[in-house]
Amino acid sequence: MITDRVKELLQEIEGSLVENKEQLEAFRLKYISKKGAVTELFDGLKNIPQEDRRAVGQELNTLKNLAQSRFQEFSTILENSADVNEGNQIDLTLPVAPNLQGSIHPLTIVRRRIIEIFERMGFNVSYGPEIESDWYNFGALNFADNHPAREMQDTFFISKSEEAVKDDVLLRTHTSNVQIRLMERQKPPIRSIMPGRVFRNEAISARAHCVFHQVEGLYVDRNVSFRDLKDTLYHFAKEMFDKDSRIRLRPSYFPFTEPSAEIDVSCFICKGKGCNICKHTGWVEIAGSGMVDPNVLTNAGIDSEEFTGFAFGMGIERITMLRYGISDLRLFTENDVRFLRQFEGA
Ligand code: DAH
Repeated sequence: MITDRVKELLQEIEGSLVENKEQLEAFRLKYISKKGAVTELFDGLKNIPQEDRRAVGQELNTLKNLAQSRFQEFSTILENSADVNEGNQIDLTLPVAPNLQGSIHPLTIVRRRIIEIFERMGFNVSYGPEIESDWYNFGALNFADNHPAREMQDTFFISKSEEAVKDDVLLRTHTSNVQIRLMERQKPPIRSIMPGRVFRNEAISARAHCVFHQVEGLYVDRNVSFRDLKDTLYHFAKEMFDKDSRIRLRPSYFPFTEPSAEIDVSCFICKGKGCNICKHTGWVEIAGSGMVDPNVLTNAGIDSEEFTGFAFGMGIERITMLRYGISDLRLFTENDVRFLRQFEGA
C-alpha cells in the first residue's frame, strides 16, 4: 500500500542523520532527486484510483516537504561547521608563534646606569634646551667671540644675529649649556648631572655622527677640589666598568675649565694588557673634565671667590660602545632588530 510506504519514509527521514557532505549527497539522491523515493511515489499517483488520488497526493506533498526541509537543515549545519573542520582546523604539530619581547635601547640602558651611579653619590638630574643661544652654548662657557676653541665644534646654526654673536641661535654642540642655566637658577651647593642630545655638523661614519648623547656633570660648593673630581670619576669607573678599574688623568684644554683633564679608564676588556678596543695602550678615554673656570662661575652669577667647582662631560655612545664592544656608531640609529634584540633582558 502506497500510504504504508509513505509512513515508512516519513519515519525514515525523520530519523535520518547526516554528518558530512557524502551523507548529505546520499540523502539527496535517496529522497529528493529525480530518481529518489519521493519522485517515484509521485510517479505512482497515476495508478491510484481517482477518488483516493487527492488524499494520497496530499500525503505525498507532506513527505516531499519534510524531505526538502530536512535537506536544507542538514546543509546549513554542515556549512556552519565547515570553518572549524577545514579552514580553521587547529594543527597541533605547528611550531608556536614566537612571543616577541621588546628590548630597551642600549643607549637608554647606559644612560640610566650612569644616572643611577651618580644619584647614589648625591647628584640630581637636570635638563636644558637643545635649541640654544650662542651665549649659553659658547659665550658664558668662556669661549671668546673670536676664540679659536669655538672651531673645535662644528655647529649647526639656526639663525645668525645682526647685532651680537651671543644672540645667534644654534643646536647645542654639548650639554655644557645646562651648567650655565642650572647655576643661574640655583645657588650652590649644586651637584647635578645633565644627560641630553647634542648636535655637530659632521659626516656620518662609524666613528662620528651629527646627533649623539652626552652626560654633563657639575659640582659647585665651597672647597670643591681637584681631588673630589678624581675620586668621583674613579668611583664612577669602578661602578660602570669593573671594580678593579683604574683611572688616569691627562692634561687637556677646555675653555670652561682650568685646569682641564682628559679621563682615561684602564681597559676592562684586556685588563690593561692591550687589545683592539684600547688600541693596545691599555687605556680608554671616557670623559673630559676640569675645575670650573672662575669666569664661568661669574658669567652664571656665582661668586668665584667663595665657590669652586668641578665639571665633566662624557659621550653616552662612547661608554656604550666600550661596554658592549660595539664598533660602529651607526648601529644606534639604524633600528636594525638584529642589533637591538641582543639587548633583550639587559
Ligand atoms: N663639552 C665638552 C665636549 O663636548 C665635554 C666636557 C669637557 C664637558 C670638560 C665638561 C668638561 O663639563 O669639564 O667635548
